[in-house]
Amino acid sequence: MGYLPGGWPRGPTLGRVNSPEDRALYAELTEAVAGLPAAQQPQWPEPGAVTEATEQLRQMPPLVFAGECDLLRTRLAAVAQGEAFLLQGGDCAETFAGVSADNVRNKLKTLLQMAVVLTYAASVPVVKVGRLAGQYAKPRSKPDEARDGVTLPAFRGDIVNSFDFTEDARRPDPARMVRAYHASAATLNLARAFVGGGYADLHQVHAWNTDFVRTSPAGQRYERLAGRIEQALAFMKAIEIDPEQLRTVELYSSHEALLLDYELPMTRVDSRSGAPYDVSGHFLWIGERSRQLDGAHVEFASRIRNPIGVKIGPTTSTDELLALADKLDPDRVPGRLTFVTRMGAQRIRTALPSLIQKATANGLVATWICDPMHGNTYEAPSGHKTRRFDDVVDEVRGFFEVHRSLGTHPGGLHVELTGDDVTECVGGGDPIAEDGLASRYETVCDPRLNRTQSLELAFLVAELLEATR
Ligand code: PEP
Ligand code: CO
Repeated sequence: MGYLPGGWPRGPTLGRVNSPEDRALYAELTEAVAGLPAAQQPQWPEPGAVTEATEQLRQMPPLVFAGECDLLRTRLAAVAQGEAFLLQGGDCAETFAGVSADNVRNKLKTLLQMAVVLTYAASVPVVKVGRLAGQYAKPRSKPDEARDGVTLPAFRGDIVNSFDFTEDARRPDPARMVRAYHASAATLNLARAFVGGGYADLHQVHAWNTDFVRTSPAGQRYERLAGRIEQALAFMKAIEIDPEQLRTVELYSSHEALLLDYELPMTRVDSRSGAPYDVSGHFLWIGERSRQLDGAHVEFASRIRNPIGVKIGPTTSTDELLALADKLDPDRVPGRLTFVTRMGAQRIRTALPSLIQKATANGLVATWICDPMHGNTYEAPSGHKTRRFDDVVDEVRGFFEVHRSLGTHPGGLHVELTGDDVTECVGGGDPIAEDGLASRYETVCDPRLNRTQSLELAFLVAELLEATR
């Protein structure tokens, strides 16, 4: 995002929005998904307002460029070969209220710190992907939520309705899709400015470590590592080596492509290749609840050229996995398909091996990454949805063990994190107890790792990576 070796990004011609090609593509996509079961879509109260919003979205400039998506695909191909490691992280659900310079900077800081730990401690290039600038739609286990005898539609993310528990707030409002576009644009603009404008400069390694992190055990460990990096940089400077790569990083955006009324109008024809790209984000994934083979989401994803992820839960059969690969990546394009496994600490060691074995036996070189969050959620006695840091760690360990035993590559990590000092997941080196969850529980969806927990996890993964090299 900040550093593009290819020079000027290519993509849908700037200014040429809603061209005849784009209109034809939109009609084609709409027809392709019409009639297919589409999981987790809101019941919009007024169809007219949906058309108004989608028409507006179709006029909007792209948020990302086709060339950037292609570059990410080549990076993910390197991950599949074991030559790089993917770090994907951010909120479970972004919020409109969370679009502030502080919030975005703190998240980036956490990602950059984790990436530095992984790169430096394990000597492996890290592909950095934010769960940001578009992560506004959420699948829910129930369509409604009941509180004290009142039943209202569930919160489906800021792109659909509002988190407050009132009838007005929970009514799906298509105009929110246009707000989500603008919120994504503002976030991406900040992210591009931060990473391109000197903030991601490796000479800033100490500055990313804010006070509260510095006092934690992981923060102190980070300080020592930052000191060593500083020494290495000083040495390089002394011998007059000062490459541009130290000053900026490549950062990509990603979100779950869940809300089809948003993703379809954001899909455009790349003027160079003529191929369709969903220009709402670089990397898009299909969630565990919407990856039905004959469903609208898989159909849509099969028709766009972006790199695609699919969440793979513990009930996925080997046949299902292969059928998904055949549908989403029939030409076996390196880097095109990433499996994001989310089995839970209890099941990773038994559920994952047969999937990998079958995929390998069928010549699939997929990128495998570990989401150690979504299989480890439980409700604390206080009623808070939480996750144990130890379970997260155990699932990551299991993921590495399985890949190591099969000779395949543990490609990366997909985590829900925040740059703030929240109390949403229990445990960690600066431990949070179940009865302490209420003190700073701010997520509107799933519990996220805080700064110190994220950093601790990065150190642990770096050790595991080192051991596999
Ligand atoms: C998520 O990533 O927030 C999510 C809902 O995950 P999954 O589809 O794996 O349940
Ligand atoms: Co989540």
